[in-house]
Amino acid sequence: MKILISEEKIAAKVRSLAKQIRADYQNETPIFVGILKGSFLFMADLIREYGEDCEIDFMAVSSYGNSKKGSGIVRLIKDLHINVNGRHILIIEDIIDTGLTSTYIKQYLKLRKPKSIEFVTLLDKPDTRKVKIDLKYVGFSIPNKFVIGYGLDYAEKYRQLPYIAVCEDEENLE
Ligand code: PRP
Repeated sequence: MKILISEEKIAAKVRSLAKQIRADYQNETPIFVGILKGSFLFMADLIREYGEDCEIDFMAVSSYGNSKKGSGIVRLIKDLHINVNGRHILIIEDIIDTGLTSTYIKQYLKLRKPKSIEFVTLLDKPDTRKVKIDLKYVGFSIPNKFVIGYGLDYAEKYRQLPYIAVCEDEENLE
């Protein structure tokens, strides 16, 4: 595997994203909503760098298995616990690819009438987007390669890697 983004570069980016969010949400208590599973490491590092009052919650969605990924059919696996009515929500993602998952989540959360919803994504693959989506906080724009590490998996492995790497086994993906 080839390292695409080092541990140091990730740490510096997380610091700068946290700083921007701090500046934008002064005197607010935003809710960081991590989308499982991929966002768990990014979320943990981001809120520690953020350092101010916040609440956290998680959602999990499934795109009906890898073969249907990109079909836009998304199933809710785990819903929020916190009431987000009237609150500022930051949706935390590891990667945005087609944008279909994020679009579904945003539409779903809008029904709960939050004060605002913004996305924070560590990685963005703009070349593979299928639906337009406004991303306020983006760590790195990356080419259309299958990436692993720092929360991202290949068949559930490699999430523990502290860096982002290009998966060279990508031709064997379903
Ligand atoms: C990834 C990622 C996003 C989604 C983005 O999750 O965390 O939720 O895919 O893809 P999209 O923009 O094409 O909709 P994945 O389905 O791989 O699940 P995981 O985080 O549990 O590994």
